[in-house]
Amino acid sequence: MEGTQEEFAIRVRDLVVGFGRQTVLDHLSLDVRRGEILGLVGASGGGKSVLMRTIIGLIPRQGGTIEVMGQPIGGRTLGAATTWGILFQQGALFSSLTVRQNVQFPLRENLVLSQELMDEIAIAKLEMVGLRPQDADKYPAELSGGMTKRVALARALALDPPILFLDEPTSGLDPIAAGDFDALIRTLQKTLGLTVFMVTHDLASLTTVCDRVAALADGKIVAIGPMRELLQSEHPWVRAYFHGKRSQMLQHQMR
Ligand SMILES: Nc1ncnc2c1ncn2[C@@H]1O[C@H](COP(=O)(O)OP(=O)(O)OP(=O)(O)O)[C@@H](O)[C@H]1O
Ligand SMILES: [Mg+2]
Repeated sequence: MEGTQEEFAIRVRDLVVGFGRQTVLDHLSLDVRRGEILGLVGASGGGKSVLMRTIIGLIPRQGGTIEVMGQPIGGRTLGAATTWGILFQQGALFSSLTVRQNVQFPLRENLVLSQELMDEIAIAKLEMVGLRPQDADKYPAELSGGMTKRVALARALALDPPILFLDEPTSGLDPIAAGDFDALIRTLQKTLGLTVFMVTHDLASLTTVCDRVAALADGKIVAIGPMRELLQSEHPWVRAYFHGKRSQMLQHQMR
């Protein structure tokens, strides 16, 4: 059943994206509901990052339509930074800037605020992601992997966007740090009412934080629903992904 427009944060219809002769997304359609955490899985090189980058207008599309918060996204335009925050897969912080300056970067780019107010905002955002005020003066090279992700998250939240895009946020973290990060995402989503679009390979994240999971294969969304429904999917790639030897072992260990 088609819902009302207000029900969806992101609506993608018949999206076609390619590079040269390679078609990456082939008439892909996807709805992200407002306030949900949607997980996206798919083969490596399957187009997950391309989908995310196309939605935010960084990659031009050859066909289809994209609506974010009810507004159409132009083919080549950069979207408003106030609508979404992004944690990129190679989520590099600016290495020559301190944590504080990194978090303030979107503020400087988009608003005219006093230094005092920007400092207050930076500290508030750092606290929001579980970092201490004294971390603000550190440089990226002085941070652990988990801290780096948190700073990138604080930067993504700097402008209070309603939508958060996360591209493999827990990759490279140990299971405890990854679990903490998942819990943080869940808390932020609840308290701020965020819509979260998260690319992840992390079965624990998919199972514990995602309201729904979408599977990308052959350039399309081939299955979408709560994790328990995905586990029932008959699609060959989805079956292989969740019921292959490696994931069976992990699921067994998770019980
Ligand atoms: N800017 C680009 N120019 C040309 N080809 C690109 C570009 N970006 C991505 N691709 C190609 O698009 C395909 C999908 O890449 P993408 O980064 O979306 O994969 P992914 O699903 O995110 O994989 P992973 O799980 O490894 O991150 C790949 O074949 C990649 O080489
Ligand atoms: Mg990727």
